[in-house]
Amino acid sequence: MKKIVVTGGAGFIGSNLARTLLAEGYEVHVVDNLANGKREDVPNGAVFHELDILDTDALRPIVDGAYAVFHLAALPRVGYSYDYPESSHRANIDGTFSVLMASRDGKVGRVVYAASSSAYGSQDHLPFTEDMHPHPISLYAFQKLAGEEYARLFSELYGLSTVSLRFFTVYGSNMRPDGGYALAIPKFLAAKRDGKPLPVTGDGSQTRDFTHVKDVVRACLLAMESPSVGKGEVLNIAAGRNVSVNALVELIGGEAEYVPVRPGDAPDTFGDNRRARELLGWEPQITLEDGISELKKEYGIL
Ligand SMILES: NC(=O)c1ccc[n+]([C@@H]2O[C@H](COP(=O)([O-])OP(=O)(O)OC[C@H]3O[C@@H](n4cnc5c(N)ncnc54)[C@H](O)[C@@H]3O)[C@@H](O)[C@H]2O)c1
Repeated sequence: MKKIVVTGGAGFIGSNLARTLLAEGYEVHVVDNLANGKREDVPNGAVFHELDILDTDALRPIVDGAYAVFHLAALPRVGYSYDYPESSHRANIDGTFSVLMASRDGKVGRVVYAASSSAYGSQDHLPFTEDMHPHPISLYAFQKLAGEEYARLFSELYGLSTVSLRFFTVYGSNMRPDGGYALAIPKFLAAKRDGKPLPVTGDGSQTRDFTHVKDVVRACLLAMESPSVGKGEVLNIAAGRNVSVNALVELIGGEAEYVPVRPGDAPDTFGDNRRARELLGWEPQITLEDGISELKKEYGIL
């Protein structure tokens, strides 16, 4: 059985990924310090290591000889990095470095790194293409970009096979609606369920390329196997359509309540996904309408 390690596997995307990997028959190891993740979200059947990725020595035996490491552990969200610059720096930059070191030394087959569309920041043109010069406008965005560069350099200098997937605003099952740094979709769904107004930051005209977690997980599996990547390539994993937050509110249904915009939030995200289509044979399959309608049922919203 091939050993696969998922860092951040108790979190939103990582738990979805770990579940799919188990269903595909892999031996799945989850590394997570439960900073944001929940133990109960680690799927049954995965070996759980409650561990900080900064502890490289403890990480080594876990990743040693792994077929692949999916590196998703991070302290994400733009607002969190504004409020807690040091801890986000450590988890996102030093943590990624630690995972890459352990993977290099453990002769891991491939590291798939969870990069972020936030690296684009604000650009003159839409959609974002991977050849655009990154322009991070938050500490989080820069930290995720630094991880990409480290991954690329570990490929070039040490021959470690890596690929960076820039995820665009991911949504789906297992999102957390709680906490001050929750993503818009779970916050909106929880508000709608509780009969409260939907808290929109800014005037709601900002757009996002909402991408379903099942599509993201499929991209991860393809990136693990594709012979066309492995040298630190950067690929947009984006549904390829940008929708305003106001339009999202309409889709969910309900009153909006406008709250002040946070520093570092990009005005738009919209990814050109041609590179992922070409190199991975991937394409998004779930429309925002279908994804939201499924989630409304999960939240008990009729
Ligand atoms: N959700 C999105 O829209 C999105 C978009 C772009 C990129 N990403 C990236 O995808 C990855 C997963 O995001 P998510 O939304 O599932 O976040 P999440 O917070 O739900 O999951 C991250 C997990 O990492 C764990 N973690 C944090 N610091 C750790 C440490 N030092 N050691 C071990 N574990 C640690 C947390 O406990 C959590 O379970 C992150 O790297 C994030 O930057 C997410």
